[in-house]
Amino acid sequence: MEKNKFYITTPLYYVNASPHIGHSYTTIAADCLSRFMRAQLGKDNVFFLTGTDEHGQKVQKAADAGGMSPQEFADQTVSHFKSLWEKLGISYDYFIRTTDKKHVDFVSRVLEIVYEKGDIYEDEYEGLYCTPCEAFWTKMQAGDSLCPDCKRPVELIKEKNYFFKLAKYQDWLIDHIKKNPEFIKPEIRRNEVLSFLSLNKLDDLCISRPKERLGWGIPLPFSSGHVTYVWFDALVNYISAVGDFNNKGEYSSRWWPADVQLIGKDILRQHAVYWPIMLKALGVELPKTIFAHGWWMLGDSKMSKSRGNVVNPLDMAEKYGIDTYRYFLLRDVPFGLDGNFSEEAIIKRYNSDLANDLGNLVYRTLTMIEKYYQGKIPEPGPRDEKTKEIYNKIASLPEKIKIALADYNFGLALEEIWALINLANKHVEETKPWNLAKENRAGELQSFIRLLADVIKKVSEVLYPFMPDTAEAIKAQFGETEIKKGKPLFPRIET
Ligand code: ME8
Ligand code: MG
Repeated sequence: MEKNKFYITTPLYYVNASPHIGHSYTTIAADCLSRFMRAQLGKDNVFFLTGTDEHGQKVQKAADAGGMSPQEFADQTVSHFKSLWEKLGISYDYFIRTTDKKHVDFVSRVLEIVYEKGDIYEDEYEGLYCTPCEAFWTKMQAGDSLCPDCKRPVELIKEKNYFFKLAKYQDWLIDHIKKNPEFIKPEIRRNEVLSFLSLNKLDDLCISRPKERLGWGIPLPFSSGHVTYVWFDALVNYISAVGDFNNKGEYSSRWWPADVQLIGKDILRQHAVYWPIMLKALGVELPKTIFAHGWWMLGDSKMSKSRGNVVNPLDMAEKYGIDTYRYFLLRDVPFGLDGNFSEEAIIKRYNSDLANDLGNLVYRTLTMIEKYYQGKIPEPGPRDEKTKEIYNKIASLPEKIKIALADYNFGLALEEIWALINLANKHVEETKPWNLAKENRAGELQSFIRLLADVIKKVSEVLYPFMPDTAEAIKAQFGETEIKKGKPLFPRIET
């Protein structure tokens, strides 16, 4: 991560259906990193981009099915995305839609530049086509001349299309990935891309669709009969949102290159192969890191719109609280691995980590400050060894979180916070403050209570990127000198 600015992106989600847990996952992770980096660099030095992918066949089909124009359909779904992000406290700096005029013009310019450079050429495309599914298949996939999806006959069709020279850049890309271990993360995905590239010769990418087959796309500037393939359009958003080309075709931006582009592993090929080659052809720098996280699964299958096995994030946030939902996603599964989604797992996390550990520490501390100090936070007292040890833990916590997040390890960052919470809770049980009070050991009691208040203040500070509302709620209860005790933050869920 560069010192003075931080640019982070999520994928642009298709507007063919409403967002589900998977979409909220990437976006919450990006929000957490953005909030963390704003605290590090100042808010003007962080740019968090998200948005929607609105062209192409999926959206056209969904619009047809809904009896609407693609633009009307997109407008409708975009509002679901935007209102979900608002509910979940997503602090994006800009929301890009691929139907925005600036983006459309920018893609046109990209196509012109790459075409003039000679990296786009026209050719006859031949493939096995399933008309009802509107999908091309290779000979291998449709070996028996039947569509692998719907089992209806496919036909051999030939059409003129435009191709982008991927193959030309294959060796350069392999070299770049090898020389830049941070470029594709985590390691398992980097290895996957490297082995794919070394075992297969890349085909050039067909980047056009004839208008008679698909009208909903950005027109190709050099062919009136074609629109742009949706991926070639959508990927460009990451640079169109934050910069411009000058009249010599040189790109400049305060933000680019991105510091990290978060994606799911489903779209690794597009981001780790097509995208860097597109940038190279344009003469634009590559992003520093592409991080592909794992999938939320329901049972044995990936949660996805096309399977229809989706869970609505709003339902979960309403039922368990926004911060509980954020905490669960970031804590329960290591970022990078697949995880199983279930409400039982949310409830388990809630009761143990939030009700028992964090909620209990906050509530019992408030209660003691009320009872022993009439609601005033006591001055620090003399420190024994144990107290010194815990103050050292408080002091070293921010650095530990910084290290964990530099490695996109949200789970570890939260574990570090909970290690302090649990240490404090254990300290309460061992110290037995009620005995200190009974035995009139005022100095020890004072030092002890002050320590707990200091632990909690630090916890609320470092928890902010993960659970902003909870951090604020704790801060509101622990003032500079006085407390304002409210209701328990996380009352137990009885099952
Ligand atoms: O692919 N688990 O959009 P999309 C975790 N428009 N994350 C998931 C997930 C799951 N089960 N399901 C979806 C597209 N995601 C293109 C992207 S980018 C220029 C164009 C998340 O609506 C994850 O981030 O299918 C995944 O990569 C993305 O949603 C795919 O969203
Ligand atoms: Mg998808």
